Parts: sequence; C-alpha cells; structure tokens
Amino acid sequence: MHDATTENVTLLKADELGRIERVERGGQLLIRRDIAAARWWARAFARRAAAREARALGRLEGIDGVPRLLAWNGRVLERSYMAGEPMQVGRPLDPAYYREALRLLARLHRRGIVHNDLAKEPNWLVREDGSPGLVDFQIAWTRGRRGNLFRLLAREDLRHLLKHKRTYAPDRLSARQRAILAAPAPHSRLWRATGKRLYKLIARRIFGYWDNEGQGRIRR
Ligand SMILES: Nc1ncnc2c1ncn2[C@@H]1O[C@H](COP(=O)(O)OP(=O)(O)O)[C@@H](O)[C@H]1O
Ligand SMILES: [Mg+2]
Repeated sequence: MHDATTENVTLLKADELGRIERVERGGQLLIRRDIAAARWWARAFARRAAAREARALGRLEGIDGVPRLLAWNGRVLERSYMAGEPMQVGRPLDPAYYREALRLLARLHRRGIVHNDLAKEPNWLVREDGSPGLVDFQIAWTRGRRGNLFRLLAREDLRHLLKHKRTYAPDRLSARQRAILAAPAPHSRLWRATGKRLYKLIARRIFGYWDNEGQGRIRR
C-alpha cells in the first residue's frame, strides 16, 4: 500500500522552460509544471508563462475540457489530468469532435480567454470519450473581451481549429468555415511574411529547435 504522499512520476516533456510530469499521488492523477527545472536564463520567462497559465485556468474554472487548476506557488503549477491522447495520436475524424471543440472555444472566449497556441496538435486532446480537451495556456490572452485585438486573436483560435478539421474531416467543413480558412487575419499575413521567419531563426539559435515539441504538426 502507498501512503497518500507517495508519488509516481512520469516525465512527459522537458525543455528550457522546465519540466512537465504526470504525477500519481494518493490515487489522483495530475499534471505538474516545474519551473525550477527551467534553465537559469529562461526562468523569469518560464515563471511569467506559468503565472499566465494559472490565471487562465483560474478564469476557466468549471469548464469541461480544460484542466482544473490545483496549485500554483510561483514555482510549481499543478493541474488536473485529462485522460486521452494528443490530437496527432487520437486523430479526430468524427465531426462531433469539431462541433464540441467549437463550443469549447466559444466558452473560453466568453470568459475573455484566448488560447493563442492552437496551431499545435499536442495542445489539443482527444479525450477517452472522444470529446476535445485543451491544455497549455502559457501564452493565452487573459485580459478579457476588450477591443479589436481580442476579436482578432479569438478568430485565429477558431481558424486554427478549422485547419485541424480540414486535415482530419475536410468534407465536413461548412461553406462558412471554408471562407474563414480562405481569409487569414491581416496580422497573420503580416506575421507569415516577416515575423515568423525571424522567430524561427531565433528559436533555432537559442532553443536549438523548431519542431513542435518533437511531435505533431503545426498548422499555421
Ligand atoms: N491536464 C492534462 N491532461 C492530460 N495530458 C496533459 C495535460 N496537460 C498536459 N498534458 C500533456 O503534456 C503535454 C505537454 O503539456 P503542455 O502544457 O502542452 O506543455 P508545454 O507548454 O511545455 O508544451 C501536452 O501536449 C499533453 O500531451
Ligand atoms: Mg504544449
């Protein structure tokens, strides 16, 4: 028998920004992000990102499909585990997945949160019952539903979801959804033309990679 404080830890991911572990503690499964494991030069950034994630998860409390915030102490962030597979493994072919994902995004946006990192398949989960889940709110917008920028970013969240749908269930795209895909936001066009190239260069130089966590595809 294990006592309640015994932990069973599985490393899911480690990079410059710290470690992500799956922890089993007293029969409960949770996900832990440990900032102390970040490289010294990335630690301030990692802490800000984790604080942003904590803020976002706090605001999203009660929404099914988003992890529950269990703890954040400035160093370690714990969130509830959602059983399932990342999108690139779960490969959601069922149109119901996208219907529910659209509803999930609408709920996020109604609470004034934009995810901002939905091009990455590993941030989408296909849960055990087939429903969508979202993780990784490190670069989320958490400042409420204000102004044009919020609307622009929220639309980008939507566009990224539709890109995944185009990959896995293309013949289920509605005419309106195809129109959205065909008309990228102005900043997205600008970003593609300039910023993205610069960012990739920096990412390669500093982090030594640009490969989407080594798994899954990024649909820009
Ligand atoms: N609450 C969760 N439930 C289940 N799996 C999770 C959860 N949080 C993260 N994961 C898995 O761990 C991976 C890394 O977590 P994530 O928050 O995306 O870290 P990072 O910011 O380093 O990308 C995710 O892609 C997902 O597969
Ligand atoms: Mg991620």
